[in-house]
Amino acid sequence: MLVAVDSADTHLAKTHLVEAKDLQYAYAGTGESALRGVTLSVREGTFVAILGRNGSGKSTFAKQLNVLITPTGGSVRVMCMDTREPENTIAIRQAVGLVFQNPDNQIVATVVEEDVAFGPENLGVPPPEIRDRVDRALDAVAMREHAKKAPHTLSGGQKQRVAIAGALAMRPKLLALDEATAMLDPDGRREVMNTVRDLIRNHGMTVVWITHTMEEAIAADEVIVISNGEAVLRGTPREVFSETRRLEELGLAAPQATQVSSLLRDRGVPVPPGVLTVEELADAVCAIAACA
Ligand SMILES: Nc1ncnc2c1ncn2[C@@H]1O[C@H](COP(=O)(O)OP(=O)(O)O)[C@@H](O)[C@H]1O
Ligand SMILES: [Mg+2]
Repeated sequence: MLVAVDSADTHLAKTHLVEAKDLQYAYAGTGESALRGVTLSVREGTFVAILGRNGSGKSTFAKQLNVLITPTGGSVRVMCMDTREPENTIAIRQAVGLVFQNPDNQIVATVVEEDVAFGPENLGVPPPEIRDRVDRALDAVAMREHAKKAPHTLSGGQKQRVAIAGALAMRPKLLALDEATAMLDPDGRREVMNTVRDLIRNHGMTVVWITHTMEEAIAADEVIVISNGEAVLRGTPREVFSETRRLEELGLAAPQATQVSSLLRDRGVPVPPGVLTVEELADAVCAIAACA
C-alpha cells in the first residue's frame, strides 16, 4: 500500500516541472516583499500564463526559475531539484530557458548562428552536435534563412525569435518568457506568439508565458494571476476571464473582443458572455444576425 502511494507521488512530482511552495522573496535593502507566498505548479507539456500588472512580482518569479535569485522564504523546485541547493544550479539552468523583454540585451554575438551556438558552446557540447542544435533551433523559430546575418539588421520580432532559438539550443525542458513581446510592434508580437504556439503544439514544449495583457493569455491551458506578490486567481482562461470585476480591480483590461461584446450587450445586442477572441465574437454576431 505504502509503495503504491510512494510511486504515485513520484509520478506526480515528475509530471510537475515547476513546484513553487509558499514562495517568498524580498530584495535586499527593501522593507517590502516582492513575493508573499506563491504556491503554484507547472505540469510538463502545458502552456501556463502568468498574468499581472506592472510591479506585481512576475519578473521576480521568473528569475527564481533560473536561479538568478533564490527564495527568502518557501521553495521552488524545478524537475524536483530545489533551487536553494547550489549543486542543482547548473542542471536547473539547463532545464529552464529564459527569454526576457529586450532582445538587444540577450544577443551576444555578431552573427545570428553564432549567437544561438553561444550557450551550447559554453556547456562544452561537441562541435558537430552544436551545428545540429543550432540548425534545429533556428528551424523551430523559422529563422534558418537568417543564420548568417548580423542580429542588428533584424526586426525586433526576428531578434526575439533568435533569443528563443538561443534558449532552445540549450535543449531546455521549460521555456519561460518574461514579457517577451512588450517591446515589439504588433507584427513582431504576432510572430513571437505564433512561434511559441508552434513550439507548444508541434514540439511539445512546456511554456511559462509571463505577461500583463490578458489578450496574450487567451490560448494558455492555465492562467495564474499574480497581484502584489500573491497568486490570486487561477483556472482556464475562460474561468479566470469571467471574473471581470475582480480583474478590473487588479488593473487588468479584458481582451478587446470581450470588451466589444460587453459594449454590444450594453446597447441591447444579445452577445453571450464568455467571448474571448475576435473569431468567437464574429460567430456570436453572425448567429444573432441569422436569427434576426
Ligand atoms: N532589483 C530590485 N530591487 C529592489 N526591488 C525590486 C527589484 N526588482 C523589482 N523590485 C520590486 O519588486 C516588486 C515586483 O517587481 P517585479 O517582479 O519586477 O514585477 P513585474 O515583473 O510584475 O513588473 C516591485 O515592487 C518592484 O519595485
Ligand atoms: Mg517584469
